[in-house]
Amino acid sequence: MRRFGLFAGALAAAAVGTVMTTTVSAQQQRPSGQPWLNANLSADQRAEALLKAMTLEEKAGQVSQQFMFGEPVQFEPAVRDSKVGSLLFVTDPAVINRMQKIAVEQSRLKVPLIFGYDVIHGFRTIFPVPIANAASWDPAGVERAQGVAAAEARSVGIHWAFAPMVDIARDPRWGRIVEGAGEDPFLGAAMARAQVKGFQGPAIGAPGHLISGPKHFAGYAAAEGGRDYDSVYISESQLYNVILPPFAAAVQAGAGNVMSAYMDLNDVPAVGNHWLLTDVLRGEMGFKGWVVSDANGTKNQVIQNFATNEADAAVRSIAAGNDMEMSFGPATSATTLAASVRAGKLPVATLDQAVRRILVAKFRMGLFENPYVDEAASKATLTDPAHRKAAELAAERSFVLLKNNGALPLAPGAAKRVAVIGASANSKRDMLGPWAFQYDLPETVTVFEGIRDRLGSAATVDTAPGVQLKRTVPSMFESITIPGVAKPEPRWDKARTISEFDRAVALAKKSDVIVLTLGEAEDMSGEGASRAELKLPGDQLRLFDAVMATGKPVVVVTMSGRPLELGPVLERAPAILHAWYAGTRGGSAIARTLFGDVNPGGKLPVTWPRSVGQVPIYYAHNTTHAPKDQGKRYWDTPSTPQFEFGYGLSYSSFVIGAPTLSTATLASGGKVTVSATVTNAGRRAGDEVVQLYIHQQAGRASRPVRELKGFQRVTLQPGERRVLSFDLDEISLQYWSAANKGWVIDPGTFDVWVGSSSNAPSHTTFAVIGEPRKGRGWK
Ligand code: NOJ
Repeated sequence: MRRFGLFAGALAAAAVGTVMTTTVSAQQQRPSGQPWLNANLSADQRAEALLKAMTLEEKAGQVSQQFMFGEPVQFEPAVRDSKVGSLLFVTDPAVINRMQKIAVEQSRLKVPLIFGYDVIHGFRTIFPVPIANAASWDPAGVERAQGVAAAEARSVGIHWAFAPMVDIARDPRWGRIVEGAGEDPFLGAAMARAQVKGFQGPAIGAPGHLISGPKHFAGYAAAEGGRDYDSVYISESQLYNVILPPFAAAVQAGAGNVMSAYMDLNDVPAVGNHWLLTDVLRGEMGFKGWVVSDANGTKNQVIQNFATNEADAAVRSIAAGNDMEMSFGPATSATTLAASVRAGKLPVATLDQAVRRILVAKFRMGLFENPYVDEAASKATLTDPAHRKAAELAAERSFVLLKNNGALPLAPGAAKRVAVIGASANSKRDMLGPWAFQYDLPETVTVFEGIRDRLGSAATVDTAPGVQLKRTVPSMFESITIPGVAKPEPRWDKARTISEFDRAVALAKKSDVIVLTLGEAEDMSGEGASRAELKLPGDQLRLFDAVMATGKPVVVVTMSGRPLELGPVLERAPAILHAWYAGTRGGSAIARTLFGDVNPGGKLPVTWPRSVGQVPIYYAHNTTHAPKDQGKRYWDTPSTPQFEFGYGLSYSSFVIGAPTLSTATLASGGKVTVSATVTNAGRRAGDEVVQLYIHQQAGRASRPVRELKGFQRVTLQPGERRVLSFDLDEISLQYWSAANKGWVIDPGTFDVWVGSSSNAPSHTTFAVIGEPRKGRGWK
């Protein structure tokens, strides 16, 4: 059997049963007094009391987290013997209860397990992928979506989501760009904050909510060449001004956990990076929760030529501030840390600190009082129709209309025969995106099904894939089977390709209108899914040509987790709607949008390049010699992108007036309110995302040509106008100056633009007055 990637080790470990065996009887050495069971004490006091009762081995177990791939029975001894503090990737409430029962009834100190899982964009109800959620520019909506995800996951006994991924990604070759909020720290911070609130609710321990673990701290998305897991070299300026702001926002929003990143950050593995995990995360940002490694991240320090061996790796990560080790198979921490403490290689106080943080989380989550989950009740939560409706709404808000010469919206009933063609046109699995595991395929609505259901008896709707999309190397997730989850339908084989192509073209010929889906299969982005090319994979361009050659009206729906080089499609397709991976109800949302029940209002959270050679390309770049002379940058391609950050069309049209200011000068402690009028000048109700950008003209460092500092998504009726206001204070203008080793605010002239994308032309200026001064930083 072929196995790929990170999960290979886990499956192999489970298969040979390498979980640890019992050494201490559960009933032995039970302490007499158990003050930590007193719920009237604070979580801190209870953790302190429990810590005092723990052996070194139990402490080492508490900081160990293990994937639960394989038969539950294999993991029972480790739980009984307190050699693991947390399990991940178990989603069956009966299994969760079974493992928990062993922990709280048979382990010496009865410490409950905390169960973690990748709740990325939904649990059973799958919402649009995170980059799509970011394209909604609607933090409140995204907060609600993660609230639904939390309720579903918590209902089966999960306590903790490894989410949101808040890595700022400026390289679409990197497969995991799909998992984040795109390229911008301001939008990224807004999405980070919203998601943490959605997952955690009003406070850690709120019923129906999870602990949120923003990841991957920090810099993972800047992998060299876009190759997943590769080293990252990032300047101090980029780290503070671009990469860290969403993490800081997540911490301020109260995130209880943070996951450290896999790769070397400037030659030091993130998991063993004391400066990063302790000085910056805790010292500068004020993070109070616990840090977990990424899967096998601790052990990987040996592969990274940093740690001598696994025992050394466990010491290095915990000493750096990485409290818990996530591991395939038994964690190195469980097997080696006690000995390392005894050998004087790790102060017991360091181990205690990590254990304390984990215990506090368990107390705050109420696990000592309520360790079990109600298995029967979870069914009602998982099948709640309101969750499906919420997913449909989220999808509708995430679509970005890239091009429209008037072909959209389609008039329902105008066409009697509708063809929905494309590899993903009727593929349920491809609606969902790469980071969904617990989905319900039968209820997932494809583009074809959505259109068929929308049109009912008004038209005959048929579908054909035409081409197939297949990775040259299978996805690392292909070998995983999750109990209770249907495997996706197999992609059809090559032998059928030729006839399928002809069948699709024949269908197009006898139809009145064609909806053509183009893009990537869901497994073409995500973890371990980077690409060197951004072209449409497979034979899709040939299919596009053949469908266009029929002379029938064609509208294109693109589905992918990253921007793609669309080539001739951009020039020749009359309309293109970018639908990302839209989730369980994606097909219904796409149909409603194509037929005008919904007016698309999403905007790109990432710059869309013309070609892969332009990458990395992002709007908030600095400028140097001959700023206006674009022709000097490349002679073979413009240096502007295909679509700029913040871009997206509507079936309506909006006019945004020139910005006005409450004051032209900003003194220390003051603020400037920027106002602009937005008018719906079209004939349909619709949404506009009004965006505010600034630029510092001169100071102690060169600053980006534009930086997003405000946005509002508004719904306006035809002819309706609204005045929108954005406040700027000096903290919104602060930046990290590497030269000054700190946060600074520079006096001088600032440009302001308000408009519908990062190219907004409407402009004014204001001045920051006073002396050059220090900024406030994160807190
Ligand atoms: C590896 C991924 O990098 C991380 O994002 C994920 O949460 C863990 N595996 C657990 O599945």
